[in-house]
Amino acid sequence: MTHWWRDAAIYQIYPRSFQDTSGDGIGDLAGVRHRLGYLRDLGVGAIWLSPIFKSPMADFGYDIADYRAIDPLFGDMDEFQRLLDDTHRHGLKLLLDFVPNHTSDEHPWFVESRSSRDNPKRDWYIWHDPAPDGGPPNNWRSNFGGSAWTWDEATGQYFYHAFLEKQPDLNWRNPQVREAMYDVLRFWLDKGVDGFRIDVIWHLAKDTRFRDNPPNPAWEPDQPEIQRFQQRYSADQPYVHEIIAELREVVDRYVDRLLIGEIYLPLDRLVTYYGESNKGLHLPFNFQLIQAPWRTEVIRELIEEYETALPEGGWPNWVLSNHDKPRIAARVGEAQARVAAMLLLTLRGTPTLYYGDELGIADVHVPHGRIKDPWAKNEPDASFNRDRARTPMQWSAEAFGGFSEIEPWLPLTDDYRTRNVDRQRGDDSSMLALHRALLALRTRFPDLREGNYCSIDAGPAVLAYRRGERIAVALNLSAESASLDLPHEFRQGEVLLRASSGESGGGIPSRLGGDEGLIILAPPSGAEGRTRS
Ligand code: NOJ
Repeated sequence: MTHWWRDAAIYQIYPRSFQDTSGDGIGDLAGVRHRLGYLRDLGVGAIWLSPIFKSPMADFGYDIADYRAIDPLFGDMDEFQRLLDDTHRHGLKLLLDFVPNHTSDEHPWFVESRSSRDNPKRDWYIWHDPAPDGGPPNNWRSNFGGSAWTWDEATGQYFYHAFLEKQPDLNWRNPQVREAMYDVLRFWLDKGVDGFRIDVIWHLAKDTRFRDNPPNPAWEPDQPEIQRFQQRYSADQPYVHEIIAELREVVDRYVDRLLIGEIYLPLDRLVTYYGESNKGLHLPFNFQLIQAPWRTEVIRELIEEYETALPEGGWPNWVLSNHDKPRIAARVGEAQARVAAMLLLTLRGTPTLYYGDELGIADVHVPHGRIKDPWAKNEPDASFNRDRARTPMQWSAEAFGGFSEIEPWLPLTDDYRTRNVDRQRGDDSSMLALHRALLALRTRFPDLREGNYCSIDAGPAVLAYRRGERIAVALNLSAESASLDLPHEFRQGEVLLRASSGESGGGIPSRLGGDEGLIILAPPSGAEGRTRS
């Protein structure tokens, strides 16, 4: 059986920032629905919505107070159903964000849990007595800075939170918690959603003895506090794989649903999340392109290592940006972001695009007084202010970029009057047109979807690879031109797409310009050397 998610490109939407229809400066589900035609025409196959559930929004929806309700900011259940139905009518799939590691402290489960030590839900969260000196039980840090333990005066114990104090961690070793969460999955699967992106899945199981994490000798004081310690005992424990196998059993009762896991771990650990016999996550998110220095030799090696490390039958995936990290155009510049898009959309595996990257949105300045990200508020000097990658989508040159009628919750780019969908739609050389062309080529050429990946030595400064039988990709990851020495059959080929201009056609050059990328189609085998008219 071929799975839709092997062919589809996934498009991540940060719902607060996609399209406002209610007039409050914050995006909503009706807004997403309104833009489905855009997404279909872009050529993606699935959308993933960051959390839309009832939440006090301390971490913008990653703090859920009711897993089965839509937050009124975004709409209601009827609106959700309309969105799901329309998504399917447009031939697209819909993925939700499942946040199982923690709830909001306002979730009724936690309200009960903290009400007394003998409450039946006490053990649904992670409560611990103080250390002998009365301090926190161990040295675990919150991902957003400070101790990961908060003292509860009323019941005389600490509770654990890997993120904000308002995001207490659930105790996944408790079978009732697991059952309750599987019910949540079934609730949405029964409605017809096509799968889930699962938040911080490698955090679900913690060391049963709560041992101290060892220090990280490489830590520098200007880095986030979480990096002071290696996360040896607070995450990535063997038991997590048992949980994932159960999650998988739940979704496998439905037809062809997808589980993607958010995992920031080194490659050798990451690939274990495919599970025994690939019965774990279908796609453990591969964030290497987000994290690696943008240099030819580094990227070439990480692709090779990833391809080699994948278990047999494990399907690859690639991500360039998300709502937690600087956007690709902010990291490498706009010209090189075009090359990066070509890389993302021609590597073997499922690509995930981040909304707004198709317009080349880069870093957006967020004035101090407008900072919303709770992590940036906690650790202003050490953290990346995630607001800068979460700014509103820019649809047109109208006020507020056609995103909203009033000042949006975060600013737009300074150049939104020219950097917007309307403008780029009419320009064949735009970033948007390049994305459309790349996605169209994926549809047209099975080699780009299913073909093997094989590295080509085309010169030291060029990242080149073959996909399947007849396609080659040559990318220049720098601004300097570089010599290009492709195998014979590709020198006879035709250019399907140029990253710099979005054009096709023309012969194969012997040098590749700076910030240039080419997708090349070799002549059919046996046709090489034939005179071309
Ligand atoms: C990962 C999410 O991507 C991030 O935005 C969030 O703050 C944390 N998990 C906590 O849920």
